[in-house]
Amino acid sequence: MTMGKGFGKTILFGEHFVVYGLPAIASALGSYTTAEVSVDEGDGWTINDQRPATPGYKKKKHNEAMQSVQNVIDYLNINTKDQKLEITFAGDLFAASGVGASAAQCTSLARALNIKFDLKLDDEMINQAAYEGEKAYHGTPSGIDNTASTYGGLIWFIKNLDGGKNTMDLLQTPKKMPLVIANSGITASTTEVVADVRRLKEDNPEKFEKIFDDYKKLANIAKKALLKGDITTVGNLMNQNHKLLQMITVSGEVNDKLVDILIENGAIGAKMTGTGRGGLVIAIAENKEIQDIIAKAVEKEGYDAWKTMIG
Ligand code: MEV
Repeated sequence: MTMGKGFGKTILFGEHFVVYGLPAIASALGSYTTAEVSVDEGDGWTINDQRPATPGYKKKKHNEAMQSVQNVIDYLNINTKDQKLEITFAGDLFAASGVGASAAQCTSLARALNIKFDLKLDDEMINQAAYEGEKAYHGTPSGIDNTASTYGGLIWFIKNLDGGKNTMDLLQTPKKMPLVIANSGITASTTEVVADVRRLKEDNPEKFEKIFDDYKKLANIAKKALLKGDITTVGNLMNQNHKLLQMITVSGEVNDKLVDILIENGAIGAKMTGTGRGGLVIAIAENKEIQDIIAKAVEKEGYDAWKTMIG
């Protein structure tokens, strides 16, 4: 048995905008998915998925997950004609929309296959294989999720729309910042939401141009604020980012409700993260005491909340 790991992630700034070549900032989470591969007689492959998950998540993502596994196997040219792969996914990353669960699965699989078949892949090749897997979830992934999942850390990411190398800078913050992640419990389809945004953008080019301009300015200020550890500015910009996401229709009723709960209970800033229309909401807190208070407030309303530190 051999084990590969892929980190979960949270997007602090720029989901959806990142698909169009605008900068985004993501942080890998300490939690990860593991993949173990063993080889048996026969052909093809089987999956044993032991990841903890939001109810309904695995069912909704089943077909895409199967295709993503196939994509990674094909990309790495693994023989499944004369041998059968038995793949087990596990780990402490709670699979939910918005946490980079699909990318973590693809990355862990690429790493496990690399070890099992001694492919001698470096991290960038692992990242590429995971990106191929991510294509099963929607045709035009930005690559931010698999990049965060592969490299870890806090990253500034720009997709190269011409197909060349993406920009990825590791950001060093002077201090760690307390973050709360709240789970709406709703599993969204990235394929559908990304396609909706594309349609909306095509129908409203001027509106989108203005929103994109506003977002780009915001992202650049956010990068500077993170580098300075200026948590107040980071929080304010998260609030503004959430408004822009509402304007492109990717937030949802429960996302907005969770944002309100988090802000009313003392978060400096809160926003949806990832695909949206369900999935997760994140909030930044000034200190660990407030982090505790806002996490408890979310739980009191019947939603799961996780605490982590970023930076
Ligand atoms: C999903 O985690 C993030 C999106 O921006 C899609 C992508 O970047 O490929 C919605």
